[in-house]
Amino acid sequence: MYLGLDLGTSGLRALLVDGGGQPVTSVAESYVTTHPHPGWSEQDPAVWVAAVDKVLCRMAAERPSEMAAVRGIGVSGHMHGAVCLDAAGSVVRPCILWNDTRSHVEAAALDAIAQVRDLSGNIVFPGFTAPKLAWMAAHEPEAFARVATVVLPAGYMNFHLTGEAFADMSDSAGTSWLDVGARDWSEVLLSAGGMTREQMPRLVEGSEVGGTLRRDLAARWGMSPGVSVVGGAGDNAASACGVGAMREGEGFVSLGTSGVLLTGRDGYAPKPESAVHTFCHAVPDQWYQMGVILAATDSLNWLSRVTGATPAELSQELGDTISGPARLRFLPYLSGERTPHNDARIRGGFLNIEQATDRRAMTQAVMEGVAFALGDCARALGQTGVDLRSLLAIGGGAASRYWVETIATVLGVPLDLPEAGDFGAALGAARLAMVGCGAGTVEEVMVRPGVRATVEPVAALQGTYAEAFDAYRATYPAIRDLA
Ligand code: XUL
Repeated sequence: MYLGLDLGTSGLRALLVDGGGQPVTSVAESYVTTHPHPGWSEQDPAVWVAAVDKVLCRMAAERPSEMAAVRGIGVSGHMHGAVCLDAAGSVVRPCILWNDTRSHVEAAALDAIAQVRDLSGNIVFPGFTAPKLAWMAAHEPEAFARVATVVLPAGYMNFHLTGEAFADMSDSAGTSWLDVGARDWSEVLLSAGGMTREQMPRLVEGSEVGGTLRRDLAARWGMSPGVSVVGGAGDNAASACGVGAMREGEGFVSLGTSGVLLTGRDGYAPKPESAVHTFCHAVPDQWYQMGVILAATDSLNWLSRVTGATPAELSQELGDTISGPARLRFLPYLSGERTPHNDARIRGGFLNIEQATDRRAMTQAVMEGVAFALGDCARALGQTGVDLRSLLAIGGGAASRYWVETIATVLGVPLDLPEAGDFGAALGAARLAMVGCGAGTVEEVMVRPGVRATVEPVAALQGTYAEAFDAYRATYPAIRDLA
């Protein structure tokens, strides 16, 4: 048995899989994010510790013999969050999350330093880890002075589980402290951010064993002594492992809170100026690239809040098939945007509201705005030389066939809908544990799910969606300075 833990933004999920990688059972627990000031987003790592204890105690009570047979654990975590530990291993302040934009000034300053983009392979986005520590140095100097080690959320869970600070390459690549091509901490990047190598966790590959589960926790959760904990992964790399997107051209579109267009890469081909993210994959000698938009289903959730209709009710009003783009245009920049604009200040908007505009038109425009934003990501990925031929559509938003067909038509790429089942970050994390414990090779374990249906681009409508996409792309430069 192997255990995958997905430490997500809204909750923690534990998934138990058998020796063949088939899901056996899963238990989840949710928690909240606090926003002490506008643009701030924090979680107390103590809530993750409480959540993992709750789910694994429940799993131990429900599945005692399977828990006793667990050989390995993998952890996936939301990326970029800074968990600062003092010399005694205690948490110095709440974790500053990936969607916290307080450090945009520090991010721009680090991004302007020569060599930073070359070595890290990426723009220093405000959500990344290095600017968060620079913000602490400027605004919380006493707390900053106590920081002995910085780990990311998954790394903190590894530390809690084993007592050792270690981190995988895929998550570490999102710090702006890692030389992403060399898969090692960079002295240049660390000193640019006022940090030292001594403050960094030990690096391991995601599929490599990093430590052993603490005996007291193993006993508490009904596990045998000697359970291995692998490096694990950032959530996007873990999701890629869960759907077998490992090699060149294997990818997915994820319609979650944020939206992601991701593809595996066999080599390191950064293109920071495109605002594409280039990160190490969670297995050796592989990388991946992705465009990230900050509000995908979050845009529909926003419309749901203001209209009082659930996202499912809004989607149902559109039916299953597209018939041409709306005149109404929506810009999904509710939390600023990463790819392709790298603009923390920009905000969303509707354009072309007219007397006839109703709720249905607004839903259509919101879905199209997200599809066009993903189209921007595809253009940016294209600049890195990647060829997107076929993609899986995953995440909560993929339940809307209308939305998936809109995206397929805008991207001009067929989108495969996976069969029902488990293929998220928790499965990817469990698969990393399988590889780390010798249950199979990456090729054997990281397989693609079965495909339930393929949604093709609607060829007859591609021209009109392409025109609408051009109009969408012209809007950002026109409004950027008005925000
Ligand atoms: C990726 C990113 C998000 C988080 C959220 O760069 O910031 O996808 O990992 O889970």
